[in-house]
Amino acid sequence: MKALIVYYSMSGNVKQTAEAIAAETGADLLALYPVKAYPDKGAKKYLWGGKCALMGDKPRLQPYIFSADRYDTVILGSPVWASSFTPPLRTFIEENRATLAGKRLAAFVCYMGSGDQKALKKLKKALNVERLAAEMVLNEPIAKPKEENAAPIAAFCRELTAQ
Ligand SMILES: Cc1cc2nc3c(=O)[nH]c(=O)nc-3n(C[C@H](O)[C@H](O)[C@H](O)COP(=O)(O)O)c2cc1C
Repeated sequence: MKALIVYYSMSGNVKQTAEAIAAETGADLLALYPVKAYPDKGAKKYLWGGKCALMGDKPRLQPYIFSADRYDTVILGSPVWASSFTPPLRTFIEENRATLAGKRLAAFVCYMGSGDQKALKKLKKALNVERLAAEMVLNEPIAKPKEENAAPIAAFCRELTAQ
């Protein structure tokens, strides 16, 4: 398996998880950045990002290189925003729909309290797939001891490499 992890992370939980999966599987990393960053402080942080996720926004992304030919597997990583996945991933999916259709797809989301399963369901709908090769939800991994995240991450990686 040669995998690419495509992720958006506002405050580091998804980034840390993506890096742990990369360390375990040898996957490459591609971080997405919207041209206009989402507010990450104050009242606007939840209101604006949440509204954009609910509305299915597709923000313009900073230039990125997706060398699709190098990978048979693409892993998408996102925080849960308003029980959905984040807008930068929506843009990426839209911009690479045809290419992604030919890959094994997996996904993980990080969340604070709820909406994790809904977010995965919406992600599968956006990808137009019934199921993913592997999926994982992690609750605020940065706040947890490393050992607590290690087991689900290892299980996710095993599922990925088993097929
Ligand atoms: C705009 C916004 C909306 C959010 N909505 C939810 C939500 O619906 N459910 C939830 O459990 N967590 C929600 N969260 C919390 C994040 O999903 C959680 O903190 C996640 O670990 C953040 O990942 P990151 O550090 O990679 O950005 C929200 C956070 C933001 C900024």
